[in-house]
Amino acid sequence: KNKDMVMAARWLLGSERTVILSGAGMSTESNIPDFRSSSGWWKQIDPRTVATVEALDSHYDLFQEFYATRMKALNQIEPHEGHRILAKWEENDLVQLIGTQNVDGLHFAAGSLNVQELHGSIRSIRCHDCGKEGSTEAFTSHETCSLCGGRWRPDVVLFGEMLPQEAWETTLEAIEHANLVIVIGTSMEVYPANQLPAMTSGKTVYINAETAETGAGFDLVIEGKAKKTLQNINELIEIGRRR
Ligand code: NAD
Ligand code: APR
Ligand code: ZN
Repeated sequence: KNKDMVMAARWLLGSERTVILSGAGMSTESNIPDFRSSSGWWKQIDPRTVATVEALDSHYDLFQEFYATRMKALNQIEPHEGHRILAKWEENDLVQLIGTQNVDGLHFAAGSLNVQELHGSIRSIRCHDCGKEGSTEAFTSHETCSLCGGRWRPDVVLFGEMLPQEAWETTLEAIEHANLVIVIGTSMEVYPANQLPAMTSGKTVYINAETAETGAGFDLVIEGKAKKTLQNINELIEIGRRR
């Protein structure tokens, strides 16, 4: 157990270019449900009824309610120590870039600067029909687009939609040239984000609460919670940096 932390800390200190890939498991300790674990969103709702363009088109009210609920919950949400550790590692040049599947903005809130939001952000709103930028208030109060009367939607990637080109390419480029890729809190179920770890020639680390099948193929697999695991590795980094 501890030797895994020591290995991760040593690889981090020895790596010139380290990329972090995070998923919903990075935010559950900030009280945001993930999707596929026992307490996840998709255990209560079939994502195809809310997280697809088809859902937006055929029952906008259900779509709007799902995302409005998640937006309102964000008001009381804070990043946790794990997010802050990743931000500090970027500041100390230990981390080059974070590619996240999360739409909650918590890496930015914790102070990380170079964050690519592969699945967009629930914190910004646009008109589905004309692209005009909207406000969370307009969306949650069921207003229609002020320009074309169309339907407001969050700037998140729905199943079947393309990922933002810039975010995808920037993250892919960083991964391809990385010496180390650390994947935290994702079930690796959703395409194409789940293809990224295999694109590096560097070392790969998988940190996840459940690692049974999803950890296969990684150089180092650490089964544990994101916050505690990052705190443990960070303590070793602090020792290593003082030396
Ligand atoms: P997919 O694999 O066909 O993904 C297709 C599109 O979804 C891609 O074009 C991609 O750009 C987009 N996409 C990528 N990440 C996304 C995200 N975070 N949110 C929304 N869209 C995203 O989609 P799929 O095959 O329907 O499902 C992908 C994975 O998710 C599958 O492995 C499937 O098992 C899982 N899934 C699970 C449930 C569930 O748990 N009930 C439901 C649907 C999909
Ligand atoms: N620490 C570590 N791992 C955790 C923690 C935690 N505190 N909490 C949950 N996990 C793990 C779960 O065991 C699960 O394997 O994180 C993983 C989260 O996986 P998913 O719920 O599938 O979330 P994610 O992989 O980010 O989903 C990808 O699917 O529906 C789309 O748009 C959605 O971006 C999301 C995408
Ligand atoms: Zn419009």
